[in-house]
Order: sequence, then C-alpha cells, then structure tokens
Amino acid sequence: MASLTTTWEIAQALGLCAVAGCLILCVLAVRPRAGAATAFPLRAHRLLGWLILAAALAHVALLLIADPRVIEHVKLTAPRYEFAGMLALLLLVLLTAASTAPCRARLWPRHRDFQATHVAVACVLVVALAMHVLVAGRYVHGRVDALTYTLLSAIVLLALLRRRARPSPGRQSPPLAGRLVFGRHSRLVVAVVLGSLAALLVLLRAGSALALREPFLSRSEPLALAFPHDRHRAVNCIECHHNFTDRTGADSCISCHRSGRAAIRVGAEARFHDFCLGCHRAPPAYLKSHGPVGGCNTCHAPS
Ligand code: HEC
Ligand code: HEC
Ligand code: HEC
Ligand code: HEC
Repeated sequence: MASLTTTWEIAQALGLCAVAGCLILCVLAVRPRAGAATAFPLRAHRLLGWLILAAALAHVALLLIADPRVIEHVKLTAPRYEFAGMLALLLLVLLTAASTAPCRARLWPRHRDFQATHVAVACVLVVALAMHVLVAGRYVHGRVDALTYTLLSAIVLLALLRRRARPSPGRQSPPLAGRLVFGRHSRLVVAVVLGSLAALLVLLRAGSALALREPFLSRSEPLALAFPHDRHRAVNCIECHHNFTDRTGADSCISCHRSGRAAIRVGAEARFHDFCLGCHRAPPAYLKSHGPVGGCNTCHAPS
C-alpha cells in the first residue's frame, strides 16, 4: 500500500513537471529577432519538448498502475476535465512529433505557416492544461491558487505574441503584421491568444469547475463506496446528511443523488468528488486532520 501511495505521488509530480515545462517553453523565445544572445537554443527547446511528452505519458501510465480504478477516468463516462488532460496530451504529441524536420517539411513548407500553427496549438494547450489542473485540484486548489495559476497562464499566452525587434522596413505593412514576428498570420495568432484569454476568464467563474467535473455520458452503475463513519465522528451528521434537517429523508445519499429527480442538478460524481475532496483538501479549522485526497481506492474500495 505504501509503495502504491508513493507511485501515486510520483505520478502526480510528473504531471506537475510536465505542466511547468509547457509553460516555461512558451515563455522562452527560440528565435528572438533582437539578437542571438537572448535566444533559447532550438535543440534545448526540442529536447525539453520530448521530455515533457515523456513526463506526461508517465503521469498517465503510473496513475493507472498505482490505482487500477483510474481506468474509470479514461472512459467516455469520465469527467470533462480528464478529457481536457487527454486533449493536452494529444496536443503535446502534435507539437513534438509534427515538428520533427521530415514532418515539418511535408506539412508546412513555409516557416511562417509552421510557426503560426505551432503557437496557435500552444495556446490551446495552455487552456486545456488550465482546465485539467484547476479542476483536478491536486496542486492548485482554493481561490488564491486558482487566481495565481490563471494569471500565470495569461502571462504565458501574452508572451507568445513575440514582437519583431524592428518594425518591418520598406513597404507599408498592416500595423500588426509589421510589429509581430508572425507576418501575415499575425491577426490569426492574436485572435487565438485573445480567445484563449477569454477561455481562462470563463474558467475562473464559480460553477465552471463543477461543470467540468460532469461526464459527457452518465454511468449506468455507481462505483462501490467504502465510507468509514468512524473516521468522521468529528463532523456533524447534518454537514453531510443535509436532507435530515427536516427529519423526512433517511434515503441514501447515492441513490437519491443518482436518481432522475428534477431537484438534482449536478451529477453524483461531480457533486461528491467536489464535496468529499473539498473538505479533505482544505478541512475547516475545527478538524485536526484531513482525509485522503489521492488514490481512488481509499474511498472506492470494494465493500
Ligand atoms: C462526512 C460525511 C458524513 C457524515 C459526517 C455522516 N455521514 Fe452518514 N453517510 C455518509 C455517506 C457518504 C453515506 C453513504 C455510504 C454508502 O453508501 O456506502 C452515509 C450513510 C449513512 C447511513 C445509511 C443510510 C442508507 O440508507 O444507506 C446512516 C444511517 C447514516 N449515514 C447515519 C449517520 C449519522 C447518524 C451520522 C452522525 C453521527 C452520520 N451519518 C454522519 C456520509 C456521512
Ligand atoms: C432525498 C434526496 C437526497 C439525499 C438522500 C441526499 N441528497 Fe444531497 N442533495 C439533494 C438535492 C436535491 C440537492 C440540491 C441539488 C443538486 O445537488 O443538484 C443536494 C445537494 C447536495 C450537495 C450540494 C450542497 C450545496 O450547498 O451546494 C451536497 C454536497 C450533497 N447534496 C451531499 C449529500 C450527501 C453527502 C448525502 C448523504 C449523506 C446526501 N447529499 C443525501 C438531494 C439529496
Ligand atoms: C467536513 C470534512 C469532511 C468531509 C465532508 C468528508 N470527510 Fe472524509 N475525512 C475527513 C477527515 C478529517 C478524515 C481523517 C480522519 C482521521 O484522521 O481519522 C477523513 C477520512 C476519510 C477516510 C479515511 C481515510 C483513511 O486513511 O482510511 C475516507 C475513506 C473518507 N474520509 C472518505 C470520505 C468520503 C467518501 C466523503 C464524502 C462522502 C468524505 N470523506 C467527506 C473529513 C471529511
Ligand atoms: C474522497 C473520496 C473519493 C475519492 C478519493 C474518489 N472518489 Fe469517486 N466518488 C466518491 C463518492 C462519495 C462518489 C459518489 C458515490 C458513488 O457513486 O459511489 C464517487 C463517485 C464516483 C464515480 C461515479 C459513480 C456514479 O455513481 O456514477 C466514479 C466513476 C468515480 N467516483 C471514480 C473515481 C476515480 C477514478 C477516483 C480516483 C481518481 C475517485 N473516484 C476518487 C468518493 C471518492
């Protein structure tokens, strides 16, 4: 069990490294026009790209090994933020594999086309990562963390808008194309960056996280739960059994929350993961300890 917990933590840390790597690569200019002294070497950019992809793949593989129930989160019934993670992985493959010399020569004969596509894909990657990281809440939870991470992502997006060292000389080019390194694709790139910034703002809205916890397809079966009442003695029954305040309902949480009642607006998984993990991650001051936030099996052990 202990070694599995360690595997789980390593897997999560690898995910964090991959995210940090992506954000760093976006900020480091590969071909600055202002002089070679400040350029991040292209070879280092490539190498870091492949290392990030490896870390992301290991993140998924190790989680599946540490806790086989993670398989529930790569099915179609998985919550949407997990799909954002899968999209990010796909975009990483695209950014690395399609940028190798042979692929690139075939797909984008002109450098400008490649550059604009690469930067646009990077923008979408930054947004997909924000969805995955903010909603998974493993390292980033709470309002302050979320704001900080969003601000960081916004800075990264703006840093992608690289400026020319000198406005293009000679012919009068349109204002944007003259100032950015993307030439005639400048407008498109600016539009993608602005769209991505807007998406980040939407993510910050209350309710976005809960919506991203909902699945695309709902499950037919609940996932067995092993809930220890004895470990929750310090918590008032009513905190969880909210339907008990009027002494009418003795219904089970799960059967009611999985039922089709009109009053249930949020799916069971989204609601319960948000609720249980919310307290475990940030327990109120009167609790001296906190519950598990890691592996699925701590809560979903077969009863
Ligand atoms: C931290 C949240 C939490 C607290 C606090 C809590 N419960 Fe529960 N309780 C649950 C959950 C979740 C279930 C459903 C467990 C399952 O389906 O395996 C449950 C199930 C039950 C059930 C069985 C209901 C059924 O029909 O399945 C009873 C009875 C119950 N709790 C009583 C209590 C009492 C009495 C207290 C206070 C002393 C209490 N609970 C405190 C979360 C809580
Ligand atoms: C009789 C049906 C019923 C039972 C039983 C029930 N709930 Fe709910 N619960 C609701 C409804 C209805 C809502 C509000 C709408 C929604 O969640 O979509 C709600 C809301 C919630 C919320 C969100 C509250 C908020 O302030 O946003 C949580 C958390 C929750 N339930 C947890 C539980 C837990 C834990 C149990 C069992 C201990 C439980 N519920 C038992 C019907 C029920
Ligand atoms: C209000 C805070 C709070 C809520 C809500 C809460 N928990 Fe906990 N939970 C705790 C605390 C505190 C502990 C640690 C108790 C201890 O150290 O003995 C704990 C422990 C646990 C453990 C035992 C972990 C272990 O090491 O064996 C499980 C499993 C668990 N919680 C599941 C749940 C589930 C499932 C829900 C949602 C239905 C839930 N908890 C909701 C506070 C909470
Ligand atoms: C802190 C406790 C806790 C942890 C950790 C946890 N879950 Fe849950 N999960 C719940 C509770 C409570 C429910 C709602 C009751 C149910 O459906 O069993 C739930 C529901 C689900 C459901 C939906 C079942 C349905 O009714 O539709 C899935 C799927 C699921 N969890 C998968 C996972 C996976 C995968 C992990 C690990 C990445 C995980 N859970 C970690 C507590 C937890």
